[in-house]
Amino acid sequence: MSLKPVVREGASSTDAPGDRANGIEVNAVEVRFPNGFYGLKQTSLNIPAGTFCTLLGPSGSGKTTLLRAIAGLITPSAGTITIGSREVTSLSVQARNIGFVFQNYALFPHMTVAQNIEYPLKLHKWPQVERQARTKEILELIELPHVAARAVGELSGGQQQRVAIGRALAYRPSLLLLDEPMGALDRRLRQQLGSDLREIQQRTGITTVYVTHDQEEAFILSDKIAIMDGGEILQYDTPAELYFRPNSRFVARFLGEANIVPIERLVPTAIDETRLAATPLGEIPVATSSKGVTSGEPLSIVLRPEDLFLVKDEPRNDDWSPAISVRIEKELFLGSRCLVTVSSQAGNTLLVECNKSDVPPCGTDAWVTWKRTSAVLINR
Ligand SMILES: Nc1ncnc2c1ncn2[C@@H]1O[C@H](COP(=O)(O)OP(=O)(O)O)[C@@H](O)[C@H]1O
Ligand SMILES: [Mg+2]
Repeated sequence: MSLKPVVREGASSTDAPGDRANGIEVNAVEVRFPNGFYGLKQTSLNIPAGTFCTLLGPSGSGKTTLLRAIAGLITPSAGTITIGSREVTSLSVQARNIGFVFQNYALFPHMTVAQNIEYPLKLHKWPQVERQARTKEILELIELPHVAARAVGELSGGQQQRVAIGRALAYRPSLLLLDEPMGALDRRLRQQLGSDLREIQQRTGITTVYVTHDQEEAFILSDKIAIMDGGEILQYDTPAELYFRPNSRFVARFLGEANIVPIERLVPTAIDETRLAATPLGEIPVATSSKGVTSGEPLSIVLRPEDLFLVKDEPRNDDWSPAISVRIEKELFLGSRCLVTVSSQAGNTLLVECNKSDVPPCGTDAWVTWKRTSAVLINR
C-alpha cells in the first residue's frame, strides 16, 4: 500500500497564490513565563491570508515570544490563536502545519541541497515520485536547481538560507514563520536574500510572519508591520502609515529621525481641520488627522527632517505654512543626504535634511518651513 502525500484537495502542483493561504488571528494572547515575567502582555493581531507581516522591535520586546506562541512552541497563559478557520491554541506544533526558518539554518551540511529539501517530505512519508517532483519544484522556486547535487556546506550563507526557506516550504505549510533569518549574513547578502524571500512569498502567496529588529529590512519586505516594545504591539500598520502617521513617540523615533516638539496649547482655527499649536518654537499651524491621540493628554508634534525645508528668506505666509527663524548650527554629511542641525531663537534644535549644495554656512540665519500636513500629532 502506498501512502498518499497529504496535499490539500484542489491544490495545484504550482504554488499559485491563494493555494493554501491562511490568515492568523491572535486574540488577547498573553504569555507569562514561570518566573512570573510577562513576555507578552495582552496582545491582539489580525494577519490576513497572504500577508507578509513583520514583527519589528528592539531586542527583548517580545517578538520571538509572539512568534513562538503562533507556532505552538509556547502555550499562552490567556487568549486564543486561530489559523485559517481553525482555533489552534491547544494544538501541538506538528498539528499546526507550519514552516520555520531560524537564524542558524539547521540544514544538514553533509546532505546535498536536494536531499535537504526532500528531508521533511521523507519524514511525512511522501512516495518517492511525489517527493522528487516537489523537490524539483522547490529548487526552481528558490532558483537553485543548478546546485541541487552540491553539499549545502559548500554554498554561500545566502544560498544556504534560501535552501532553508525552500525546505520550510516543501511540505506545503499553511504558514511560514521566520525568526531573524538573516541575522548572520552581511548587508549585501541580506538585501539580496530579502528581495528573494519577498519574491518567493509573493509567488506562493503564503501567509508569512517575519521577526527582525532591522527597520530597513522590515520596510523592504512587509505588507504590514507590528511595532513591538515591552511585550506589547504599539502600532500595526503598513510601512508608509507607520512612518508618516506614527501613533507614539516610540514608533516615531524607532522608524527614523524625528523632531518631536511639545505642545503647550492647541486651539481651533477658521481653516478646515487646522489648529494652532503653541510650542517652544512659537505658534505652529497643524493640519492633521492623527492616530490614537487621546485628547486631554499632553501632545507633541512629530516633524520628519526630510519634510522640512531650509530657506534663506522668510517665506510668504499666505497659506498657513509654518515658518521659523533659525540659525545653522552644524552639518552632518551622509553621502546621499545632509542632516543639518538648526536652533530656534528660544534655543530648541531641529534636524533638517538637505542637499549638500543647499546648506547655508554654519552660524548664518535662515528659515525652516514645511507643509502644514507634514506635522503629525502624538501623545507626548
Ligand atoms: N523562558 C523565559 N523565561 C523568562 N523570561 C523570558 C523567557 N523567554 C524570554 N524571556 C524574556 O521575555 C522578553 C521577550 O523576549 P523575546 O520574545 O525573546 O524578545 P525578542 O525576540 O523581541 O528579542 C525578554 O525580556 C526575555 O528576557
Ligand atoms: Mg528574538
